[in-house]
Amino acid sequence: MSLIDTTPSTPGKFKSEKCTPYSAHPFYRNLRFQSSLLKLTVWSSSFLGLILLFFLISSPPSSHHHGRRSTEIDVGTKWETKVRTSAETRARADGGKPLRVLVTGAAGFVGTHVALALKLRGDGVVGLDSFNHYYDPELKIARQKFLANAGVCVIEGDINDEKLLKRLFDVVHFTHVVHLAAQAGVRYAMENPGSYVKSNVAGFVNLLEVCKSADPQPAIVWASSSSVYGTNTKVPFSEKDRTDHPASLYAATKKAGEAIAHTYNHIYGLSITGLRFFTVYGPWGRPDMAYFFFTKDILKGKEITIYETSRGESVARDFTYIDDVVKGCLAALDTANKSTGSGGKKRGPAQLRIFNLGNTKPVPVSRLVSILEEHLKVNARKKVLPLPSNGDVEFTHANISLAQTELGYRPTIDLETGMKQFVWWYLNYYDRSRKN
Ligand SMILES: NC(=O)c1ccc[n+]([C@@H]2O[C@H](COP(=O)([O-])OP(=O)(O)OC[C@H]3O[C@@H](n4cnc5c(N)ncnc54)[C@H](O)[C@@H]3O)[C@@H](O)[C@H]2O)c1
Repeated sequence: MSLIDTTPSTPGKFKSEKCTPYSAHPFYRNLRFQSSLLKLTVWSSSFLGLILLFFLISSPPSSHHHGRRSTEIDVGTKWETKVRTSAETRARADGGKPLRVLVTGAAGFVGTHVALALKLRGDGVVGLDSFNHYYDPELKIARQKFLANAGVCVIEGDINDEKLLKRLFDVVHFTHVVHLAAQAGVRYAMENPGSYVKSNVAGFVNLLEVCKSADPQPAIVWASSSSVYGTNTKVPFSEKDRTDHPASLYAATKKAGEAIAHTYNHIYGLSITGLRFFTVYGPWGRPDMAYFFFTKDILKGKEITIYETSRGESVARDFTYIDDVVKGCLAALDTANKSTGSGGKKRGPAQLRIFNLGNTKPVPVSRLVSILEEHLKVNARKKVLPLPSNGDVEFTHANISLAQTELGYRPTIDLETGMKQFVWWYLNYYDRSRKN
């Protein structure tokens, strides 16, 4: 029998114990008093134990990657100064009012580019990233150093860490949040589904909770994904199309994010803009994406797999160059209205938007491989297989007319030009890493 089984479950149960006639005797009264005292002690210690256990379980995970210190230890005067300095603004060359922006996922691929572009034009930027091990954390650390040279500090921490987020909002009155932290990747969801729920659902809610309580409330721009179009066959994909057939858990969590964004906009007056990115690529890219690992494997002489659809066509993607996506993100920030609430209370209707950010020119993956072969000056060893049903869709194609009208978004980089930039970066980066 466990301790819990032998002790009362609630104080009420302990008090309401009935007296029997012999219990009126002083001996029994004394015995009963002692036994009650013992029960009370046992009960209180198990209660305290349970509270302690609850805090241990619910406390945010500390990050100890590469012997790096956890945020709990980092938070101090020096930490505050670092955050404040990073959030300092300058007069913007374009005459715009400088923003103070929290960029989550700033050590990630898109986050690094967005944080840099904001800093370069005069905005104050603070980055946040968990530096998780989904792909090589050394690449994330290198991006962090790259941003540090530009004056952007990327704090190591999790978006699920409410205390840390509140502290950041205490130190800096962020006008905007660019939320890019997420568990990305479609296939990995079959291996580690929990990481998608933790970062893309629970983490997003935690961030929105802190944003809604902040005074002033920031306006939020966040990354959804083209994957919400799932198994749709009508092309190009328009924001007006249905998005209730996700083909992967990743897509389902992004779709959930869009529903969650609606709720926080509706109840708390948060201004929220969701951006559905279409296969973003470029320098400092993501090693789990095909263009990246194809490059690595082609250089190694390793065979690569190209998938084809049930109709025998190569899978196609609306590849979008990182600089075009960054322009779209900045335009979304500049056109975002202020949130209408403050301190957790809505004061009026707030802006809620969703935009496709794609290139509108889908390219078959077989063509991507030819472009890489040209730039790398190496022939690839290829095998062609039918697309497995592991979450990937057969094609993506964005209709960007809404982003064109509302954000002035006009992608300009084609796949040949963009891949040349990527290959140049890849060869330099890995050559330098080898020498160091
Ligand atoms: N790159 C694309 O083609 C693409 C396409 C569609 C959508 N997106 C979305 O754009 C955003 C950025 O993507 P990316 O390509 O830069 O991916 P990325 O993996 O390079 O960047 C995401 C970053 O978030 C961090 N992160 C993950 N969980 C976190 C958490 N709980 N707390 C703090 N940090 C956390 C990771 O460490 C990583 O550095 C993501 O939301 C992604 O889902 C990307």
